[in-house]
Amino acid sequence: MAVSQSELSFARRMEGMTGNVIREILKLTQQPDVISFAGGLPSPDSFPESHIRRILEEIGGEFTSILQYATTEGYPPLREFLAAWVQGRGIEATPDQVLILTGSQQGIDLACKALLDPGDVVLVERPTYLTALQVFRMYQARAVAVPGDDEGIDPDALEKAIAEHRPKMLYAVPTFRNPSGETWSPERRRRIAQLTAAAGVVVVEDDPYGLLRYDGQPLPAVKAFDEAGNIIYLGSFSKIISPGLRVGYAVAREQLLRKLVIGKQTTDVHSSNLSQYIVNAFGRSPAFQSHLETICAQYRAKRDRMLAAMEAHFPAEARWTRPQGGLFTWVTLPETVSTTRLLERAVQQKVAFIPGTPFYTDGGGDHSMRLNFSNASFAQIDEGIARLGRTLKEALA
Ligand SMILES: Cc1ncc(COP(=O)(O)O)c(C=O)c1O
Repeated sequence: MAVSQSELSFARRMEGMTGNVIREILKLTQQPDVISFAGGLPSPDSFPESHIRRILEEIGGEFTSILQYATTEGYPPLREFLAAWVQGRGIEATPDQVLILTGSQQGIDLACKALLDPGDVVLVERPTYLTALQVFRMYQARAVAVPGDDEGIDPDALEKAIAEHRPKMLYAVPTFRNPSGETWSPERRRRIAQLTAAAGVVVVEDDPYGLLRYDGQPLPAVKAFDEAGNIIYLGSFSKIISPGLRVGYAVAREQLLRKLVIGKQTTDVHSSNLSQYIVNAFGRSPAFQSHLETICAQYRAKRDRMLAAMEAHFPAEARWTRPQGGLFTWVTLPETVSTTRLLERAVQQKVAFIPGTPFYTDGGGDHSMRLNFSNASFAQIDEGIARLGRTLKEALA
């Protein structure tokens, strides 16, 4: 006999947990005629399919060990490759300081598992990545937003928040932020690394977008300024190879990394050997660099197309960021507009976005929205932004 849902008793940590808003909105946008700027999906034609097919065909003698269990820390050649590769972001690391993850999302989860007790405080940017907020909630921690500007978190506000809340962790996406597309300046990076080190706060630097740069000079990671060993750097291949492979990585000093490894053992034992093999083989091939250049050129053109369409169709009162990389632009509207309400009307007009509120810890952001420019075609960008522009003008009339 089936047990009814109301008879089941769930863990206290599930109280108030709802599904991810983006995932719910993505369901709405599954209808083929809806143009969606909602998800953070890479373009389907960015996947290096022919290279991956060839890697699979040429696996050879290692195939048996790929099909076997392996170590939690990850495929050794991939750890070696990454230790060298992150030098490009100014990070000094040995292979022992690299842990392969099942997507960088797992790194956020494992950092929380290792560091947070119920009631602990995590400092975040305002706005911040909403799925990280879900993880903090799942671990019954309290996320507190620290104000900042287009150069990053305000160091004075951070010092004040550290003194007031005694946080365990600072979580941030300093490069091409999700959702705002903005990037911390080098000076802020250095300062935030110093302040958190002095206060013994662990920084989780989440960097899935850093290599998707379309203008300007590459910047060192915040982890590049990590003299005290308090920074966990998270990287991902989701946006530069394929999200379906689920390969990300953490770089941290051994003592911190070890705690993440122990947490991972009880989560998934290790990440997929086959995915790690593919990423290692492709990452080491000469084709990888040209692949990165191709997708950056493709996304630069899409970003420019969306910014031009917004210029042409959005009302004069709208403001938006001009990101130098990543996948998103962030639109700010007059405070009279609720983007939560606007979404309903937009979906009726067959266009979708993510309203701002879920990226805030304090109910702010209802007059903002996040737009993704990587997934839609040029024609969809032109038509979708025209539809959205009409919906916005109606809302403001
Ligand atoms: C800021 C941020 N962190 C982490 C992730 C998760 O990425 P992954 O596919 O590597 O788990 C995303 C995905 O969109 C993201 O935007």
